[in-house]
Amino acid sequence: MSLNHPFRTSLEAQITDLKEKKVYKRLNYLSSPQAAHVQMEGRGDVLILSSNNYLGLCNEPEVIEAGHEGLRKFGAGTGSVRFICGTFTVHRELEGALAQFVGCEASMTFVSCWNANEGLTATVVEEGDVVFSDELNHASIIDSMRLAKAITKCSTVVYKHSDLDDLVAKLRAHTGARRRLIWTDGVFSMEGSICKLPELLQVARDHDAILAVDDSHATGVLGRTGRGTAEHFGVLGEVDVITSTLGKALGGAAGGFVAGPAALADLLTQRSRPQLFSNALPPTVAASALAAVRYIETHPERVQQLRDNTAWFRAAITEAGFKPIPGDTPIVPIIIGETAAAIAMSDAMLAEGIFVTGFGFPVVPHGTARIRCQISAAHTRDDLEFAVGVFRRVGAKLGVI
Ligand SMILES: Cc1ncc(COP(=O)(O)O)c(C=O)c1O
Repeated sequence: MSLNHPFRTSLEAQITDLKEKKVYKRLNYLSSPQAAHVQMEGRGDVLILSSNNYLGLCNEPEVIEAGHEGLRKFGAGTGSVRFICGTFTVHRELEGALAQFVGCEASMTFVSCWNANEGLTATVVEEGDVVFSDELNHASIIDSMRLAKAITKCSTVVYKHSDLDDLVAKLRAHTGARRRLIWTDGVFSMEGSICKLPELLQVARDHDAILAVDDSHATGVLGRTGRGTAEHFGVLGEVDVITSTLGKALGGAAGGFVAGPAALADLLTQRSRPQLFSNALPPTVAASALAAVRYIETHPERVQQLRDNTAWFRAAITEAGFKPIPGDTPIVPIIIGETAAAIAMSDAMLAEGIFVTGFGFPVVPHGTARIRCQISAAHTRDDLEFAVGVFRRVGAKLGVI
């Protein structure tokens, strides 16, 4: 491509525009595993307070060794799509373990939860069906609905965040469909809040609708033994469909899954486009994820450690003068206000050795830009005390507290 090719020039103009608007994302390179502390190029040792490595399993020796073993036993690649050239036994074992872990009959894995959500929605609805979505649902659910609409001509409806009255009114306004699917995040990723699962289950039952919960930020996190939002509310086994990622608490490698009735997993194998036209999870990733599930099953104390760390940090950061959005999850958003202020705070924290990301408009509404802290079981009390100390200093310097 020549240097002044118009495509290149227009791409460069877009990048310049992002930089001018101060929404350009700079990548920070790490030369060590994801853990409480990482080695960041140009900065050295940095404490991470913005990772989904909730249980510290990214770097857990048993999880790493299982990946090595998976690589040795099954090789590197899957060779093609599962129904075309074979499915590895580790996929079957992982899918059984995941289903049991989240309280469902069966599950089907995908290369990401993004893929799982897209695979699910477009497979289970058809023309005339209606999909209802909480307004704060994750982008992967939103895009899955856009895709399903384009493929199947289903209808889509957005209800106000966690507003059951609004959902019921919208269900009543859309009767007569063969299927009505309600989609919610288990834990909303920008707020750290938990969906009203028991009430949603009741609404779904009352209105003969199906409830699908994306538990990506809840699997391994919520509930006494980390089985997610359903365990948190004591309704394990009652949710129609659960999707989740293998890329957060479950070891941090890639991957996602849909869990539900056995016939759903089978239908996804038959009809979901990512299953039919895209390779399966690499066996090494499947093996690591399986070891992560087994680890959580045998180490509930890791989940308890996460809860203890979260409670300690929430109390300490409040005591330091910040106003985190109240809640129980390890996602602790601290509202700063303007986007530029949140970014300045994030930069100042990094200069003091803490990597914690700021989010502003359009990811969150104007005026609610925030620093989103994520707590891990891998953090020690010293790590968390250090983090609160830096927050105090930087917050005072920038006039946030
Ligand atoms: C609620 C939710 N769903 C889906 C995803 C996508 O997960 P994956 O990285 O496995 O595609 C995320 C990740 O940010 C998420 O927070």
